[in-house]
Amino acid sequence: MDTKLVVADFEDWREAVAEAIAVLEGDGVVALPTETVYGLAADAFNAEAVARVFEVKERPSFDPLIVHIGHKRDLDLVAKVPEELEEVVDELVEAHWPGPLTLVLPKREDVPDLVTSGLGTVAVRLSAHEVMRAVAREIPIAAPSANRFGRISPTSAQAVMEELGGKIPLVIDGGACRDGLESTIVAPEMTEKGPILRLLRPGPIPKEELRKIAKVVKPKRSKEDHVEAPGQIESHYAPATPLVVVERPEDFIPEEGLRYGLLSYRGEGKGSLMEATEWAHTEVMSPGKGKLAEGAVRLFYCLRSLDAAGVDVIVAEAVSETGVGVAMMDRLRRAAAGSKK
Ligand code: TXA
Ligand code: MG
Repeated sequence: MDTKLVVADFEDWREAVAEAIAVLEGDGVVALPTETVYGLAADAFNAEAVARVFEVKERPSFDPLIVHIGHKRDLDLVAKVPEELEEVVDELVEAHWPGPLTLVLPKREDVPDLVTSGLGTVAVRLSAHEVMRAVAREIPIAAPSANRFGRISPTSAQAVMEELGGKIPLVIDGGACRDGLESTIVAPEMTEKGPILRLLRPGPIPKEELRKIAKVVKPKRSKEDHVEAPGQIESHYAPATPLVVVERPEDFIPEEGLRYGLLSYRGEGKGSLMEATEWAHTEVMSPGKGKLAEGAVRLFYCLRSLDAAGVDVIVAEAVSETGVGVAMMDRLRRAAAGSKK
């Protein structure tokens, strides 16, 4: 299959949106930009098209998808917000939609079970990217990240082409993703002491922000020790090259004969590994002063470059676990766990 690449200009993205809608109406799938990472979209209410998403991604059907809506009021099309949670959900929506926050809520019966992997809940978000939002206004969209299962999420149309080129008919190029990491996922719940937010996946909206609205707690673990967000299995976000995260520079002891690639946070200063060995390839996420937000935007892009550089091992410097740094370290640790397999 030839994959058509259509650029959605700042001024004129309507044409691209119309092309995407035409594919979706014909039961097809299309890659769309969001502010976090690119998504592989299907009509959320068309089970056949949703099945195609799982097939193209080679994603196991026990891992549910996020539904993207186009207006705040469309939340009622897919979810049933329990009365006791209305207030906290309203506050979350007012503060963070459109934006990189996904809410897990009881689902409406007519959302296909395939979308939610048979769960009683659905994950919903309203993207801040005008292309995704314009498409979702016409058709609620089920869209996981547009990568093959378990691999690095794409933050540019070029990266989508590397992942899924030849497998899907259309990719809409909406530029580089503004946030660069997948959305923060929370499940609001009511307890005797008031509402809580279970943080199922750290992301661009940090805990510090969520805490202003309600108490933030860790995900529950069930008896089988499966995390509540099934996609949170450890091997996610893995490059093909083995990756290690180095917390303290003195912990890194290079092995003779191996070609190492470095993922550095700011390329200099305390904790930097730039001088630790003769690197075959280096990528610096936020050169100079080091800004976590810039590091987050560039993390997956830098990992892709390192993965393509043909090194034996990728060594990643740890970043400080504050703000979006929590999400960055989460992805790096998963990449390390996944690349061991
Ligand atoms: O930023 C994002 O969220 C991107 C863009 C494309 O929107 N999407 C994304 O989708 O990261 P995906 O499929 O790669 O990750 C969705 C995560 C998975 O970990 C999945 O297990 C979890 O959301 N999830 C989906 N529905 C859920 C539910 N009902 N309960 C708990 N977790 C759920
Ligand atoms: Mg994903």
